[in-house]
Amino acid sequence: MIRVAIDGPAGVGKSSTAKALAKYYGFAYLDTGAMYRACAWWCLNRGVDLDAEQVDERVVTETVGAFFTDGHFDITVDPDDPRVLCDGEDISDAIRSAEVSAHVSKVSNVIPVRRLLVAAQRAMIAREASADAFSGGLGVVAEGRDITTVVAPDAEVRVLMTAREEVRQARRSGQSAAAGAVGADDVAARDRADAKVTNFMTAADGVTTLDNSDLDFEGTLDALVALVDEAI
Ligand code: C5P
Repeated sequence: MIRVAIDGPAGVGKSSTAKALAKYYGFAYLDTGAMYRACAWWCLNRGVDLDAEQVDERVVTETVGAFFTDGHFDITVDPDDPRVLCDGEDISDAIRSAEVSAHVSKVSNVIPVRRLLVAAQRAMIAREASADAFSGGLGVVAEGRDITTVVAPDAEVRVLMTAREEVRQARRSGQSAAAGAVGADDVAARDRADAKVTNFMTAADGVTTLDNSDLDFEGTLDALVALVDEAI
């Protein structure tokens, strides 16, 4: 059983390479950013004011709590087709909108929301890493901002992916254009907001830093495969 934890800032290429890594080994793939995005999408749809400088944390916590406990939310972990669902409806594209990107940090900065999502993520990782879980290999790749430090600090492989800011900005805008998103995702602003509650800019003890500024997709994937092979 192998758990691979990958953290890093926005636009570093975590999602695409983590997904490819999971596919390579037949592991499950957990996109924790998609869970925070789904919460922000749900709050926006419910009319929660996320534009306020200081959001109403009680309202956000209650709204997100209902999203989970009332069973609206679901996420699939097949790396060939990971999906986020709300009441059975596929919201995988909707949660990548510029509007959600611009507001997601307001939700992910609320500590009780983090507690709820961290608990859910730990449970999913434990389930997917066990023998009778997802039909692939005995392993899971989870990526986000606090996986190496908070969600799964005991993971067999822990990686912090970094890249120079201009490289990340360029990768991200290419991605948004491809997805047809309206407006730019301000990666730097999102990282600043996210860094208030998570540390994904410096590697914690025992975490391997992978700077992929000068690596392409294949090069990054090769480096990740080398790290996992070492742990197997
Ligand atoms: O990974 P992605 O850019 O899709 O994540 C969207 C947002 O979710 C981040 O900007 C951050 O606010 C939040 N997030 C988080 N903790 C994680 C993963 C994502 O706070 N583990």
